[in-house]
Amino acid sequence: MTTLSEAKDDAVRARHLIEALPYIMEYRGTTVVIKIGGHAMLSSALLDGFAEDVTLLKLLGFKPVVAHGGGPQIDALLKRLNIETSFREGLRLTDPETMKAVEMVLCGSVGKDIVSRISRAGGSAVGLSGKDCNFIAVEKEYASAVREDGTVEMVDIGFVGRPSRVDPEILNHLTAGGFIPVVAPVGVDAQGAAYNINADTLAAALAIALKARRLILLTDVSGVLDENGELLVTLSASQIADLKKRGLIKGGMIPKLDCCLRALEQGCGAASVIDGRVSQSLLLEIFTHKGCGTEITL
Ligand SMILES: Nc1ncnc2c1ncn2[C@@H]1O[C@H](COP(=O)(O)OP(=O)(O)OP(=O)(O)O)[C@@H](O)[C@H]1O
Ligand SMILES: [Mg+2]
Repeated sequence: MTTLSEAKDDAVRARHLIEALPYIMEYRGTTVVIKIGGHAMLSSALLDGFAEDVTLLKLLGFKPVVAHGGGPQIDALLKRLNIETSFREGLRLTDPETMKAVEMVLCGSVGKDIVSRISRAGGSAVGLSGKDCNFIAVEKEYASAVREDGTVEMVDIGFVGRPSRVDPEILNHLTAGGFIPVVAPVGVDAQGAAYNINADTLAAALAIALKARRLILLTDVSGVLDENGELLVTLSASQIADLKKRGLIKGGMIPKLDCCLRALEQGCGAASVIDGRVSQSLLLEIFTHKGCGTEITL
């Protein structure tokens, strides 16, 4: 027999489901681009939770598109293969041999792992990179280094590129067919050579090409933090400029925030940086008023 306290617990659970109703109404039928950083893939349980969240979004009528990173996983394979890695201005020097390993990890391992977890959660995911249908064209990227005399040197860092064109057709076919695309950060140049793309940059380019309603970046911190390490629940473009000037936004957070602003400027409805270490963070961000990180605004 159900006790009174069990009945109350059930009522609370039912209430939580009902609280999601306005968000389901608002976002049903819209595209949500979700980036999961290599640094946010901290445990198998968190990745399974992520796969469940994405599957639930799809079943509720959203059109989730996943973009993923894989920096730590690339480092691990390069180490096992005894391929030495060096960095210039924070960017990996990507020679042909390194690029082969990068592609193996991103497309063959990390992407397919996310795909199979989504399948286990009951969804249908398809892993692809910019090589499929040539859908992400890149232009080669250079690192810029400031010389002693103050002039700027463009440093060749190999097969690193930024998207110059994203053709959304294949993604639209997949989402319309009920599939969840899982996109690895690899694009192609005019000769068909593979280039590694920063995964935040990829996610923003997908959000823009797909006219996404939301861009959500999962990372390994609770969101953007201020000088006291406190979470900034919202952050505007002018606040970002100020924090950058004061050196409080560094490293991997810089491309992330630049990408959010670029996506918002080009029509994406909302952009946020959320805590990938929290179980079911994606659902908390979408279905609760409080959210689960930092919302970026123009
Ligand atoms: N003001 C800030 N608030 C929060 N994190 C910051 C800030 N400034 C710099 N960071 C750094 O940004 C990091 C997140 O970016 P990072 O590139 O390391 O991860 P990711 O993009 O999620 O993963 P990947 O690059 O593998 O795809 C944080 O771990 C933190 O060290
Ligand atoms: Mg990063």
